[in-house]
Amino acid sequence: VTTVPVASARGAYDLVVEHGALDRVAVLCAARGVARPVAVVTDTTVGPLHAQRTAAAMACPPPLELPAGEVGKRWPAVERVCIDWLDAGVHRGSVVAAVGGGVVTDTVGFAAAVYLRGVDWVAAPTTLLAMVDAAIGGKTGVNLEQGKNLVGAFWPPRLVVADPAVLATLPSRELRAGLVEVVKGAWIDDRGLLDLVDRPITDAGDLEPVTWVEVVARAAAVKARIVSSDEREGGLRKALNLGHTVGHALETATGYTRFLHGEAVAWGLVAEARLARRRGLLGEDGAGRLERVTARIGPLPSITDLDPERVLAALVRDKKRDDLGVAWVLPTDDGVTLDARVEADEVRAVLADVAARPPAGLV
Ligand SMILES: NC(=O)c1ccc[n+]([C@@H]2O[C@H](COP(=O)([O-])OP(=O)(O)OC[C@H]3O[C@@H](n4cnc5c(N)ncnc54)[C@H](O)[C@@H]3O)[C@@H](O)[C@H]2O)c1
Ligand SMILES: [Zn+2]
Repeated sequence: VTTVPVASARGAYDLVVEHGALDRVAVLCAARGVARPVAVVTDTTVGPLHAQRTAAAMACPPPLELPAGEVGKRWPAVERVCIDWLDAGVHRGSVVAAVGGGVVTDTVGFAAAVYLRGVDWVAAPTTLLAMVDAAIGGKTGVNLEQGKNLVGAFWPPRLVVADPAVLATLPSRELRAGLVEVVKGAWIDDRGLLDLVDRPITDAGDLEPVTWVEVVARAAAVKARIVSSDEREGGLRKALNLGHTVGHALETATGYTRFLHGEAVAWGLVAEARLARRRGLLGEDGAGRLERVTARIGPLPSITDLDPERVLAALVRDKKRDDLGVAWVLPTDDGVTLDARVEADEVRAVLADVAARPPAGLV
């Protein structure tokens, strides 16, 4: 069992990474003085694959299943969850559990934050992205028609249980998109982890179970260290946005239909590596390494047909909402810099360069 501690204003909690942990949630809770969860929420995909078993193993009723995918992360889901808990007799001292990807952990964490003005919850992330990112740090919330994550609360769980065994059923595209966040975290603060994932990985069977435990624990630890020192995104937490400035712009410019989030971030890492190289923040070796490790995660949906001006427009809109205006997170040889200033023409040049000369393997 590997345990990653996370500090938080609402109290410290553990992230436990263990092969088969989903069958032992009640035991893992008991060992930390967390009451056994009495209700499980999941989605329609993860329910039959994993969450029904998890609920049964902790003597819970069958889980409530929300619609799978980003469409599930909406107000109506929060209301459904709260009504389900009310019907099930969940009270102020109860603990509830979320078993699923980031959509489920974000939605259920938010419902836990507002149900009876707040009940304790346990997160059991079942995608790689949720294990190393979404389930850590206490941000919860749902989307509005107008945009993602516009409603939410800081409501950290009491325990996070990550069971890499469930990655066996995750579609390859989702797994590889999660690996992008692993590479991002490794670049920020754990180069040994970068070596661990610098190999062809297209499905969970490509790594030994013990290696998955190590990969998940080390990537989660990078985020845990950062949010432990900066829970509310003052400064350090911005480091986690590496690859995301360009990544978000690509997602917006394609209406969130072409790329999985991690896929857009992979293009973002490559573009930002080239930006950093141009301004001498990153040496030849560093830039090459970041591009190569990212490219191993490919293939990705292409960017060649995208209008760079649309990407740029999305970027400018994104940045205007940011107090720092032009501050970019860019990779450096030993981590990241948090306040690089980048001009529109540089972005144009780099987007054209990446589209014309993508790293081998990425498309
Ligand atoms: N709170 C945060 O700090 C934070 C950070 C990053 C991302 N997020 C949020 O996380 C969400 C994305 O999370 P995600 O990538 O996990 O998406 P997701 O929850 O939609 O899961 C992706 C797909 O995989 C399926 N799935 C999940 N686990 C599976 C398994 N083990 N086997 C087979 N299928 C499985 C799901 O049903 C879904 O269809 C976004 O809404 C994003 O905003 C939140
Ligand atoms: Zn991300």
